[in-house]
Amino acid sequence: MLTFGVMAEQFYIPKMADKSLIYSEIIPQIESVIEAETNIYANLANVTAMLKEAFGWFWVGFYVVDKAAKQLVLGPFQGTLACTRIRKGKGVCGTCWERRETIVVEDVEIFEGHIACSSLSRSEIVVPIVVGGEVWGVLDVDSESVATFDDEDRVGLGKLGLIIEKMVERCENY
Ligand code: SME
Repeated sequence: MLTFGVMAEQFYIPKMADKSLIYSEIIPQIESVIEAETNIYANLANVTAMLKEAFGWFWVGFYVVDKAAKQLVLGPFQGTLACTRIRKGKGVCGTCWERRETIVVEDVEIFEGHIACSSLSRSEIVVPIVVGGEVWGVLDVDSESVATFDDEDRVGLGKLGLIIEKMVERCENY
């Protein structure tokens, strides 16, 4: 388990393991890291780093709802340069916001309205983070391969989403 002040090298990721084992090993470690910190953005940043290291995905990041602008705004992420603002109902992220449900896209080329921040992204999963009954933000993950994400990711990232929701409720600084 990681605790405050523990080095990154102690983050344990099982090698040659299937996805469900990776999720079951890393989720408690992520939970432990974010329990030790009260700054939302510091926690979101570490979540993206840990997911990127564990799975090697092309892009992992958060978009957070800007209520005044009625848009999602780019938050902490790991990966290439990304679009900064997405309107409700637009792209995979804006659709996840509107529907308040996880969206798995097997092939971004056949998702109507997909927003391509990078032409290298080929499949995607977006999970809503719901706080106080409203979408607070979304966790967006992109892969360079088609059909990377399935029900295991839906479940694994869904569990992580619930942990992040509790963290956002507990922290005040956003
Ligand atoms: N593809 C997303 C945009 C965000 S990037 O993937 C980082 C979408 O369609 O909403």
